[in-house]
Amino acid sequence: MFPNRLNPDVVKLQKMNPLAFEAIEPRIAKDSSAYDTSLANLSRNEFTSEGRGSDYLDSIQLSLLARSEGVMELLGKMHPDGCDGLCSSMIICDLLAGDGYVNKVAHQILGATRCPTFINSDISQFMVDRCIRDGLFAIWQSATDPFWIRDGSVDGVLMAYGTHHIPQAQRPAAVHAAARILRPGGVFVLHDFEEGSPTARWFAEVVSTHSVTPHDYPHFTAGEVLDLFAAARFDEVTVQRITDPFVFYAEDEESVLQSLANYVVKMYGLEKLRADTQRVLVLLDEYFGLALTETSRGGFEARIARNALVGSGRRV
Ligand SMILES: C[S@@+](CC[C@H](N)C(=O)[O-])C[C@H]1O[C@@H](n2cnc3c(N)ncnc32)[C@H](O)[C@@H]1O
Repeated sequence: MFPNRLNPDVVKLQKMNPLAFEAIEPRIAKDSSAYDTSLANLSRNEFTSEGRGSDYLDSIQLSLLARSEGVMELLGKMHPDGCDGLCSSMIICDLLAGDGYVNKVAHQILGATRCPTFINSDISQFMVDRCIRDGLFAIWQSATDPFWIRDGSVDGVLMAYGTHHIPQAQRPAAVHAAARILRPGGVFVLHDFEEGSPTARWFAEVVSTHSVTPHDYPHFTAGEVLDLFAAARFDEVTVQRITDPFVFYAEDEESVLQSLANYVVKMYGLEKLRADTQRVLVLLDEYFGLALTETSRGGFEARIARNALVGSGRRV
């Protein structure tokens, strides 16, 4: 009697992952058109094909696992048993998902049965299209207003690897929104880089100068993270500094250093340094410390020691 009012893209999402779809707001699943114009405007950020979006995705193609140590540490904070407690019945909403990077790393490392069910969400339509092309459950929305997601419907919310892109004035709204979509007892993890840290200086001094797009965003202080969590009434709040390195392996020293430099040039869109591997390596060493070690298998590991600031809290 009643026509199926879901549009074909929404039906595809429902079929792709019925568990993730349970978190979708039925009213929006029927009609999200009211949000289309504002999203189309917001979507024109630097993570599109006109900005450094393609370069960014190229870096992930060069090495999926280069940032996996930090990713797994963040996911481990979502469960009292750490990564051992993660499983496919757990729904995690990644609000700055990009091409679903965290989802892809978790799937690669944990395997299908232990990988949580991800709802990948991003403001850039270019990134959401990439997730969907790669078979991932993804929705187009801003972290400041995740209107697709029902109240109290997900077990974990992640904002990571780009939270500084949310303007300071909008950060309280984003953290309140994370609380809204979490079920009671669910965990919110917020990751960014600390104001004044080597990584923040790297963005201000190196990326801003050598990238195809300017990069002038305020990062976070531990005090700001604590205030944001307190205002949204999270419980068991912690703020920690974690190591969040880039790690590469290769048979010989030259290859491993070249891979690291290529990755960093793509990741930050450092077009003006593309032909100057030595300069990239010198800068990495100057800002982060570059450790080159021989592995027990006779190959080489190159590691830069990025640090990150991570807040976590449990929804009351
Ligand atoms: C540096 S990328 C990180 C992507 C992915 N998490 C990763 O680690 O590869 C930052 C992402 O945040 C997205 N973003 C920026 N502001 C946003 C907002 N207000 N809401 C949702 N996504 C946003 C960008 O479009 C981009 O895809």
